[in-house]
Amino acid sequence: MNESVYYFGAGPAKLPRPVLEQIQAEFLDFANMGSSIIEISHRSKQFDDLLCETDELFKELVSLPNNYKVLYVHGGASMQFSAIPMNLLPLKPARKALYFESGNFARLSKEEAEKFGDIKVIASSAATNYDRIPEFDPADLDPEASYAYMTSNNTIFGTRWQSFPDTGGIPLVIDATSELLSRKMDFSKFGLIFAGAQKNLGPAGIAMVVIREDLLGHAMEKTPKLLNYSIYDKKHSLANTNNTFAIYVINLVLKWLKGQGGVAAIEKINEVKAALLYKLLDDSAFYNGHAQPAHRSIMNVTFNLPTAELLDLFLEQSTNAGLTALKGHRSVGGARASIYNAMPMEGIVSLADFMKDFERRNG
Ligand SMILES: Cc1ncc(COP(=O)(O)O)c(C=O)c1O
Repeated sequence: MNESVYYFGAGPAKLPRPVLEQIQAEFLDFANMGSSIIEISHRSKQFDDLLCETDELFKELVSLPNNYKVLYVHGGASMQFSAIPMNLLPLKPARKALYFESGNFARLSKEEAEKFGDIKVIASSAATNYDRIPEFDPADLDPEASYAYMTSNNTIFGTRWQSFPDTGGIPLVIDATSELLSRKMDFSKFGLIFAGAQKNLGPAGIAMVVIREDLLGHAMEKTPKLLNYSIYDKKHSLANTNNTFAIYVINLVLKWLKGQGGVAAIEKINEVKAALLYKLLDDSAFYNGHAQPAHRSIMNVTFNLPTAELLDLFLEQSTNAGLTALKGHRSVGGARASIYNAMPMEGIVSLADFMKDFERRNG
C-alpha cells in the first residue's frame, strides 16, 4: 500500500487513516457478533446502540441545543434540495423561500425548490463566477418567506460565509456539506443544517440533517415518505433499511474528531492549514487564487496557473509526486486543494513545498 499519497479530492474525500484502519480491523466481526457491520440487522440492539451513540457524539461535538433533532437521510446532499422545500414551504401560506446564490450547489438547490413554490434569489455572485459571497439587502428578508437558504461553504469556488446573517423570524437553512464539523457554529441560529457525508463525515449517499423541532410536521401532503423529515424523526431514521455502513463510519469519524479535541481544536488546525496555502498564493505572482481574500474557505483552496499547459503539467507532476486529485471543478478550471478535517498538516506542507518548487522551475 502506498502510504505517501495525499488525496486532495473534493468528495468523496480523504477520511482519517485511523478510522480506515479500524474499519479494516473489525470488518469481519462487528461488536463480537461474528458478522460484519454490513451483514447485521438495522434493527439489532448492536446497531441501535451505535445509532444512539452517534447521535450523542454529534450533539456533544456541536453543543446541540435540546430542541434540535439529528436525522440520517437517504440520497446525499442533493436529495435535501428537494426535501427542504417539500418539508418547509408550507410553514407559511405564501409558500415562498429566499435563496442566497453563492455557487453551483445553491443554484441547483434553488432550481429544485422552484418546482414547489415561489422562490426568490435575494443575492447572487454569478456575475463574478462566484468568487465571493454575495451582498444582500436586509430589506429583502420578506417575513412571508418560509425559510432562507444558503450554502455555507462553496466547495467548487472555495468561498464561505465567514459569519451568518440574522434572518429574524425566518428560519435559516444551511447546506454545510463541505464544512460541517470543521469550524464552530452556533446551531441555535439555524432552522435546519445539513451535510452530505462524503467530505467531513464518511461515505457518500447519506446526509446528516439537523432540524429544529418546531419545523417538523409541516410537510406537503404528497411528500414521499422517505423525504419526510417527520418520518425520519419518528422512526429514528429507520423507516426502512438505512445505510448502516455509512452511519457506522460516521460514528468512527465523530469519535476520531472527539479524540482530536473536538470542533474548536480542529478549527484551529484547519485555519493554520489553509493559511499556509493562502500565504503561498498571496506571495506568488505565478499562482492566482480564485476566491476573494475576505471570502476564502478553509476547506477548499482554489487557484489557477498562468497557462493551460502549465496547469496540465502541474496536475501531472503533482500526481506523480503523490499529491493527487488537485484538478479544479470544470466551472472554475485551475486547481483545487480540498483540505478537510482528515487532511494532515504533513499533506499541506508537502503540497506547499511542491508548489514552491514547481513555481521555481516554471515561473
Ligand atoms: C456544498 C455542496 N452541496 C451539495 C453537494 C452535492 O452532494 P451530493 O453529491 O451528496 O448530492 C455537494 C457535493 O460536492 C456540495 O459540495
